[in-house]
Amino acid sequence: MKFLLIVIFILLFTLFIVAIYKIYELKNIQYNKPEYLIDKKILTVYYSNNGNTKNVAENINYIVGGDIKKIELVENYPNNIFTMSMQVRKQIKEGFLPQIKNIDISNYDIIFVGSPIWNFSMSLPMKAFLKSNNFENKTLIPFFTCSGIANKNGIVEEIKELTNIKDMKKSLYMFENGIWLVKQQIIKWINNI
Ligand SMILES: Cc1cc2nc3c(=O)[nH]c(=O)nc-3n(C[C@H](O)[C@H](O)[C@H](O)COP(=O)(O)O)c2cc1C
Repeated sequence: MKFLLIVIFILLFTLFIVAIYKIYELKNIQYNKPEYLIDKKILTVYYSNNGNTKNVAENINYIVGGDIKKIELVENYPNNIFTMSMQVRKQIKEGFLPQIKNIDISNYDIIFVGSPIWNFSMSLPMKAFLKSNNFENKTLIPFFTCSGIANKNGIVEEIKELTNIKDMKKSLYMFENGIWLVKQQIIKWINNI
């Protein structure tokens, strides 16, 4: 019994030290423009219904520079979250994509594209954006905010289907609430993709 308690204590202590080290490492992370962004025209595009993805998009834009644009709907979703969720579910079932306002991406080489996760996948406005633009010779860098569960492999496949993209970097997934050290987490992701 005493031996077991000592083992548990050592394990917990090790976990604690590792966590402290990871936080320290994250806090001191530096942004050095990675090679894939050097001399490139960068655009951050996002859809956000409730502000979480907007927050991440603005941080990305602050870090990497370039322009930032919001995907806007021709007809907005209802404000009531329940009615909105029902509408989204119906649209997914019917394979319907909402009409969005045009965003000109022709001048850019690198496109960060962000969306909330809806029903384990991208939001429908992001799908509409991906479907209605030409990504030839561009690099796509997707990012998402979610409350927990996303079909990450399915999303990669769906982006490829919608865009025929040849160059896509690893996506960032961030939790909606209590996002801690947001800038540092984004820098870590940008540095490592
Ligand atoms: C219609 C709807 C469906 C959602 N489905 C999921 C889901 O399947 N998995 C998940 O982790 N979060 C889901 N969420 C939560 C959002 O992804 C999360 O709150 C996100 O940060 C919202 O981003 P926004 O504030 O930019 O709109 C859903 C939210 C809505 C409104």
